[in-house]
Amino acid sequence: MAETKHTTKSFKLNTGASIPAVGLGTWQSKPNEVSKAVEAALRAGYRHIDTAAAYGNEKEVGEGIKASGVPREDIWLTTKLNNPDHKCVPEAIDDSLKNLGTSYVDLYLMHWPCSLNPDTKQAYDDWDFVDTWRELQKLVDTGKVKNIGVSNFGIKNLEKLLNAPSTKIVPAANQIELHPANPSPKLVAYNSSKGIHSSGYSPLGSSDSPLYKNETILALAEAKKRTPQQVLLVWGVQKGWSVLPKSVTESRIKANWDLDGWGLTEEEVAKIDAIPDRFKVCTDDWLPINVFFGDDE
Ligand SMILES: NC(=O)c1ccc[n+]([C@@H]2O[C@H](COP(=O)([O-])OP(=O)(O)OC[C@H]3O[C@@H](n4cnc5c(N)ncnc54)[C@H](OP(=O)(O)O)[C@@H]3O)[C@@H](O)[C@H]2O)c1
Repeated sequence: MAETKHTTKSFKLNTGASIPAVGLGTWQSKPNEVSKAVEAALRAGYRHIDTAAAYGNEKEVGEGIKASGVPREDIWLTTKLNNPDHKCVPEAIDDSLKNLGTSYVDLYLMHWPCSLNPDTKQAYDDWDFVDTWRELQKLVDTGKVKNIGVSNFGIKNLEKLLNAPSTKIVPAANQIELHPANPSPKLVAYNSSKGIHSSGYSPLGSSDSPLYKNETILALAEAKKRTPQQVLLVWGVQKGWSVLPKSVTESRIKANWDLDGWGLTEEEVAKIDAIPDRFKVCTDDWLPINVFFGDDE
């Protein structure tokens, strides 16, 4: 059995910083839900919150942090650069910090490898994610961001980024969709081989998750006297990535944090690994360019 203190576990990044293994996700939360969720999570013991400019809730996240009474420096706070802001990185981080009510974030991610002209809604011809990364690198010396990383990067785009002459900093993390129906072993292995931490989004399979009806997950949950969600989260942490379960429901926020003192055996992890179902919560259909090339299988 692997170690069983999942909530206090953290993963070391290539910068030397440690990212807590379990964080609260905040995507698709309705207005006025997030600040209470963040407060409840921090009071329950969470020390890692994931937000993004695109979620439109950074202000509420900041309010939740303040209301919790937990000191800012005890919290790992991640936010993300929105696609239409790729050409104005300095202004975008200042807006995020203002909204969050903090002087720094622990992790600033390029949300998608797609710069978007806000007027035409098309990708810029004269600017791509390599240019954006060049700008993000400049933020590190300002103290406004402790670590920089990317999100939704597959192997092809990571190769391009890492091989670019202007890339001096290897991303500290790549936040990607990770659950048993999108386990992306090749991409996770590629991230690791480059010293990039994988952070798993939609770890429960997102809203109305089909995974809650998956026979393997249900059988394991029953055998371990745990919820399917707890099994999914512990599987992710034991696989070696951080997990970002979202909930605005206090009882679920607490249950999703009840992960200590038990774990999955290697055989149980292997059973989940063998789930054949496949689905993706976040596709690139809504973007003007493809960013996924099937290179994460
Ligand atoms: N980088 C990216 O592009 C990207 C993309 C997607 C997500 N993310 C991040 O990852 C986070 C998590 O992903 P996600 O929001 O897609 O989905 P998720 O965390 O996999 O699932 C969230 C859904 O599960 C429900 N839920 C949570 N705990 C539960 C429990 N114990 N029992 C039953 N239902 C439960 C939530 O409902 P209630 O809230 O109603 O309780 C919500 O509908 C996001 O919030 C965001 O921070 C990042």
